[in-house]
Amino acid sequence: MNSDPLLVLDRVCKSFGPVQVIDEVTVEVHAGKVSVLLGENGAGKSTLIKMIAGVHPPDGGRILIEGKEVKISDTKSSEALGIATIHQELNLVPSMTIAENITLGRVPRRFGIINRREMRKIAREALDRLGLDLHVDTPVGNLGLAQQQLVEIAKALSLDARILILDEPTAALTTAEINQLFDVVRNLKAKGVGMVFISHHLDEIAAIGDFVNVLRDGQFIATVPADTDENQLVRLMVGRDIDEQFPRVRTEVSDTPLLSVQGLGAGMLSDISFEVRPGEVVALAGLMGAGRTELIRAIAGADDYTAGSVTVAGTPLARRDVAAATRAGIGHVPEDRKTQGLVLDASVAENIGYATMASTARAGLVDRKGQRKRAEDVAARLRIRMGSIDQPIRSLSGGNQQKAVFGRWFTAGSKVLLLDEPTRGVDVGAKVEIYELINEITASGGCVLMASSELPEVLGMSDRVLVMSQGRIAGELKTREATQDSIMAMAVSNVHREHETGMNQ
Ligand SMILES: Nc1ncnc2c1ncn2[C@@H]1O[C@H](COP(=O)(O)OP(=O)(O)OP(=O)(O)O)[C@@H](O)[C@H]1O
Ligand SMILES: [Mg+2]
Repeated sequence: MNSDPLLVLDRVCKSFGPVQVIDEVTVEVHAGKVSVLLGENGAGKSTLIKMIAGVHPPDGGRILIEGKEVKISDTKSSEALGIATIHQELNLVPSMTIAENITLGRVPRRFGIINRREMRKIAREALDRLGLDLHVDTPVGNLGLAQQQLVEIAKALSLDARILILDEPTAALTTAEINQLFDVVRNLKAKGVGMVFISHHLDEIAAIGDFVNVLRDGQFIATVPADTDENQLVRLMVGRDIDEQFPRVRTEVSDTPLLSVQGLGAGMLSDISFEVRPGEVVALAGLMGAGRTELIRAIAGADDYTAGSVTVAGTPLARRDVAAATRAGIGHVPEDRKTQGLVLDASVAENIGYATMASTARAGLVDRKGQRKRAEDVAARLRIRMGSIDQPIRSLSGGNQQKAVFGRWFTAGSKVLLLDEPTRGVDVGAKVEIYELINEITASGGCVLMASSELPEVLGMSDRVLVMSQGRIAGELKTREATQDSIMAMAVSNVHREHETGMNQ
């Protein structure tokens, strides 16, 4: 850090109402370096980068670029200063095409008419930089979460910024995609671009970072080199050691299945049969696109299926009926919390209480007091960081929103939990809290079906692994006997692709 910094946040502050979420934090960005922001969910990382992006200007302190104080009052002035931002929550317009999204706000025109050819060319080049084989006329709404994230990244890269901010860009990506992104980042480093990088994956910090700025509760804790030992980073971040990353307590598994799926077929899925017994955690592993999310959504009643049956505790479930599934004790934590899991403008209490609303209502009246109490209890257990249980869930940090979706089903006493990437965007400490609730669910006779691309999580928390490949179950492993390699080998057993693994090791 010998060079003069490109950008400095100098003792910046930010409050939302009475709550101060950033308290005199100083962070530097250097040309050709990656400055990592590390901190628990709600520590203030996104708020800090939103100051640079012009989304939430600071209410105290200064921002300096090349030593000169600047005012970044909105996103336009941020872009004008050569800053490009990839936000944690996606900002694309689903109904518009990839090309329209990438060129949004700077549509090329010729004689006042939109120059579609030029627009497609800009988009094509942007996608090529990331090696993305997508058609530029595809509506963004047709893409999966990972692909949308990649388009968002391609868009930011195409701005040719001198400062690039990446807020959890890797959360939804596969190993191969992450490597591709990191190649681009290394390239930009060589060109002198200064970057800010946020991630809850500590191994990525050493791979791509130069130095790490640790935040805790909106306060600056320390700046350390990126090759600092992971345990030390965790200690700085959470203020204590984490002894057991995967605290799975295995319980007695009874024989009668709690969830039974027989001969299920839908779209790409065919002939899927398996059972999950009380006390069990069964992981669904597989490559991106193997059909894990499709399977979970069909069981949860979110999507229809054309063949087979789903049975909970011996009772067949109606197809495509979320309310019936909920009544039968199914809880579903979807892959994409923002569009499938949450009512963003409703309060934290309402979002958590939503699944119990009908069952606890008396004479048709929602039991608001009880709802609040239960929400407060689970929020405390999961340490959901917020000003008040009545604030809109939209204003919670990404990881805290994820904890709230999980908390909803825990509060509802769901017996069959369907989890799709349950700890995406969740910090290392909060992951352990989610795992402990999973233990409680199995200890009380419930069961969990968990799709996860995190192989350490699969190996650390499940009892059995079902490996999916191309819409079928390719095989089953006992977790005790499984390794990352044996899971991977099964996942690619009938796939002929050389590079893509789709799983994070
Ligand atoms: N618009 C807002 N209104 C009220 N509070 C907010 C708003 N935006 C953020 N906050 C609060 O500021 C705090 C910091 O949130 P921030 O999103 O910066 O956390 P983060 O470090 O990015 O966490 P995560 O790892 O979960 O993404 C949180 O307590 C959050 O609830
Ligand atoms: Mg954040």
